[in-house]
Amino acid sequence: MVKICGIGAGYVGGPTMAVIALKCPSIEVAVVDISESRISAWNSKKLPFYEPGLEEVVNQCRGKNLLFSSDVEKHVYEADIIFVSVNTPTKIKGIGAGKAADLTYWESAARMIADVSNSDKIVVEKSTVPVRTAEAIGKILSENSKSKGIKYQILSNPEFLSEGTAIQDLLNPDRVLIGGNQDPQGLDAIQKLKDIYAYWVPQDRIITTNLWSAELSKLADNAFLAQRISSINAMSALCEATGAEVSQVSLALGKNTKIGPKFLNASVGFGGSCFQKDIMNLVYICESNGLTQVGNYWKEVIKVNEYQKSRFVHRVVTSMFNTVSGKKIGILGFAFKKDTSDTRKSPAIDVCKGLLGDNACLSIYDPRVTEHQIEKELCMDGVECVNVVGDAYEATRDAHGLCILTEWDEFKTIDYQRVYQNMEKPAFVFDGRNILDVHKLREIGFIVYSIGNPLDQCLININIIN
Ligand code: NAD
Ligand code: UDX
Repeated sequence: MVKICGIGAGYVGGPTMAVIALKCPSIEVAVVDISESRISAWNSKKLPFYEPGLEEVVNQCRGKNLLFSSDVEKHVYEADIIFVSVNTPTKIKGIGAGKAADLTYWESAARMIADVSNSDKIVVEKSTVPVRTAEAIGKILSENSKSKGIKYQILSNPEFLSEGTAIQDLLNPDRVLIGGNQDPQGLDAIQKLKDIYAYWVPQDRIITTNLWSAELSKLADNAFLAQRISSINAMSALCEATGAEVSQVSLALGKNTKIGPKFLNASVGFGGSCFQKDIMNLVYICESNGLTQVGNYWKEVIKVNEYQKSRFVHRVVTSMFNTVSGKKIGILGFAFKKDTSDTRKSPAIDVCKGLLGDNACLSIYDPRVTEHQIEKELCMDGVECVNVVGDAYEATRDAHGLCILTEWDEFKTIDYQRVYQNMEKPAFVFDGRNILDVHKLREIGFIVYSIGNPLDQCLININIIN
């Protein structure tokens, strides 16, 4: 029986290993983590984060062929295949700070594998890593091996799931990418990993490449996706200036089969733990290879994203007569996208901080993000005027304006007539996700700003006065 160990029980490691356990009942899967609290959450009724469908998958396999443990060494020792899904954040100090990936967690996992292993292992990079990381990992493993003659094969098998749709993405992936050494031992390891995915993924969706292509493809993938969002967000600014509607432009572009319809929703900006981190990592790799122009090209994707967030804050403040000081603003949504409780790099953080910088009073509601998490993200020192509340009506009562910062479905079906009645007048709506019916809101009496849409006549007048 093949034994798998997944190191890192986070947003990638947890769901990925759970789906492998679900689809491969004859394989024993142990998910391990140095964080005791994460492991106990995985072993409890309340999983460590919200992800649609995850609970059902875990409930089907946990206690059968899926276990969560903090006894990292035991399960690494026993495993034939080790998936490493530890975090690879951006370095915050030292050489490459703000750009390069911090591989501390990866290196410590690799050293631990070398320390405890006494049989051959296939080590799979699931984490997103810089190109040629496998080379470094290979050296660490082979030069620190405690038992003689142990052979390690390193594979790159980057993960492409999106949060909020992770289970569907894992059950039905567009493709599975496996990179490995192209010698007989490497090809044999690739085949062993292919055999696992073949339990549920059609053969023609399993792509194999050399190691460096697989590692780079993951960074390129995220850079291309983020670049599309920054491109449509740049267009949204132009739409507001010219009277074009960004959703109509997106539709027209998306119907071009050479472009395709996905990732063309203009927004207040992209968030999440991956896009910015992975683009900056790509920029660092470009610069390290003397490719400054290439690095500068990708840096612009991040700059446009920063611009989009600050443009939104500017629009809120200038629309509300150039002052939000002491005014209550209802914030609907704090997660970086719908259907997740994750707030990492959420655009809501920057928007809220921007409004607090202008002395606004915020009343925040998100269906899945806890008060503790919001306070942590806003680094509140007790002086800011922030309330976290239990529903959208409470968040907007007596508010001068409301901002939609996450595209939760429930925000589409709020009774906006009731919201309007309970707000100060004039009542402003700032839709940072383009999910509301602008015409209906204007009929109710709201002054509406919606990313990339023609400005409300009242806003144009206000802008002229300013
Ligand atoms: P995460 O922070 O949620 O999880 C990482 C886990 O690894 C943590 O629980 C941490 O305690 C654990 N860990 C760190 N060092 C360890 C060690 N030495 N031994 C055991 N456990 C250790 O991170 P994540 O969002 O799951 O991302 C993991 C990797 O996957 C990153 O490289 C990320 O770029 C990549 N990725 C993330 C996503 C996503 O949507 N979140 C998608 C694709 C790829
Ligand atoms: C992303 C990649 O999509 C996934 O392939 C990779 O494995 C991890 O990083 P994730 O960050 O979970 O996934 O979510 P994604 O759906 O890509 O959204 C990222 C951000 O972009 C969110 O803030 C989202 O709201 C925003 N977005 C997405 C837009 O603003 N417009 C779009 O059209 C799509």
